[in-house]
Order: sequence, then structure tokens, then C-alpha cells
Amino acid sequence: MIKIASKNIRFLEKVSKIPILKHFFILKISQQFPEITSEPVLQKFYTDIYVSNRTSKRTTKNRFPDLNKVSLEYIKKQENPIIHDVAVSSGISSAEFSDFLKNNSINPDFYASDKYVEIFVKKGLITKAFTSENKLLFAYVGNFFAGDKNIFFPLTVLLHRILKKSKVSEKFDYKLLLLHPELLQKINNNEIKFINYDIFDTEINDKFTFVRVMNILNLGYFYEGKIKTALQNILKSMKKDAILLIGRTNSDGINNAGFYLKKNGKLIQLRDVNKGSEIKQLIENL
Ligand SMILES: C[S@@+](CC[C@H](N)C(=O)[O-])C[C@H]1O[C@@H](n2cnc3c(N)ncnc32)[C@H](O)[C@@H]1O
Repeated sequence: MIKIASKNIRFLEKVSKIPILKHFFILKISQQFPEITSEPVLQKFYTDIYVSNRTSKRTTKNRFPDLNKVSLEYIKKQENPIIHDVAVSSGISSAEFSDFLKNNSINPDFYASDKYVEIFVKKGLITKAFTSENKLLFAYVGNFFAGDKNIFFPLTVLLHRILKKSKVSEKFDYKLLLLHPELLQKINNNEIKFINYDIFDTEINDKFTFVRVMNILNLGYFYEGKIKTALQNILKSMKKDAILLIGRTNSDGINNAGFYLKKNGKLIQLRDVNKGSEIKQLIENL
């Protein structure tokens, strides 16, 4: 069944719509991921994952057309734009943003980053997938799936709780790179540079002219003190007069976001899109 599935893209597209089956197949076919190009399969299998700090990896194609247009207005006024797209998950929106700028005759230095871009898999009687911090993401005991938060099915959560206490193996059988093929192509062509970046810890000073932080500093993910730490870190990474785009896509697919200018070490609001960012008070009182 697994063998048939990994060779039959139509079948995978169908099961990717069914939560329990989708998770059942994630690890079973994960070694074949680099050869899979079907968009629905990639989207479901690569981004319907919660990482160890309980943030989701969800992203979609064509998520920010409205924000890209406004961003262009600001970026085209910059002399040597250096862009940082933070916490990009598969990076499909970074690839789209880069294409959009290029089609408007802008060729910036473009950095995309994420903290959880790789998954390490150990096969066996119990097959386990770990983050780069050696935290258990999900596992299989035979055909039983063990997941943390993404499946509201008690046995999967219970199994995950038990397994996450077990010893982490020193060697893994293979590593999965969770980047979209379109981003990989741009990395190979030197159009985009990928960096491992922890929004709370990685220090970069005075480098970027435009930083995009979408769907990561959400109140549902982190408490306010933690969000402030990340904002201060991001602010440091921005040059004088750089622009920050920050916000969240709501459940109706609407982008609630704000554009901010770095002035005298503070962030000054330039413009809200839709209702603006849910953390605007934190940004403005930084
Ligand atoms: C919901 S996705 C957002 C993807 C993309 N920005 C978008 O809006 O479509 C959140 C991403 O944040 C990443 N992430 C979680 N914690 C992080 C951290 N501490 N530093 C950097 N990235 C992190 C996750 O790996 C995930 O890919």
C-alpha cells in the first residue's frame, strides 16, 4: 500500500485531504518527498506540521498578493534593498515575493529564514521524526501515529507524550528538508539566500532594509514578553529607515498587517492593511 501510494500522486492528493491518513503517510513516504512536485501534496505533507514550540508550519501559495503590492511601493524607493523574509516555512511566499519584485525590475539581496527547516528521521520498529533541537515531532509505533497537537485524537497525543521521554538516537537514517522546490531553485540560482534564524536568539545587526515577519509573532503562539524580545531582535537587524512588515493571516485568509519605519531606534507606523497587526501596541511601545 505504501509503495503504491508513493508512486501514485493522485492517491496521495486524495489522502492528503484526510487528516488521519495524511499523517499516516507523512513518514512512510517521506524519503520520496524530494521527488514529489504535486502542489496539494507538498502543501499538506510539508506544512501541516506543528514544530516543537507549537507553532504551525502552515503556509500557502498566493498568500500575500495585497501585501506584496504595498511592499513594492516602499522597496522601490530604497537604493540597495536587502530583504529578510523571516520564519518562511516552505518558503513558497518568499519565492513568489522575489518573482514579483523581479517582474517589477527590482533585484534585491533576498534572505529567507526559518528555525525549523529540517526534520531528522530514525527508522525502526518505532519510526521517529525530530527537530534540529532533538525534540520529537511525530512518530509511528507500527501503524499508530504519535503526534503532539495537530491531531485531536487521544491515542496519538498519549503515544507522543510517552515517546518524547525516550532517549534520542545519535544517528538518523535520513534528513528531510522542508523547503518548497520553487525556493530551492532560487537558492541554487543565488536569487535567494537561506539562513537558519531563530527569531528570539539569532543576532544580526544593522543589515536589512526591509523585513517581513508574517504569521509567527502571534499572540496565540507566544506570550507578550517573548514577542517583545523577538521584536527587539528584529529591530536591531534593521538599518536606519528600514521598513518592517508584520502581521497575521486570519482564518478567512485576510492579511491583518502593518508597515513600520525604523526611526531613532523605534518603530513608527506607516500604514495598516485591513485591521493592522494584532500586536500593534507592543510594536509601538517597544
Ligand atoms: C505559520 S508559519 C509562517 C510561514 C510564512 N511566514 C507565512 O506566513 O506563510 C510559522 C513558521 O515559523 C517558524 N518558527 C517557529 N519558531 C521559530 C523561531 N523561534 N524562529 C524562527 N522561525 C520559527 C516555523 O518553523 C514555521 O515555519
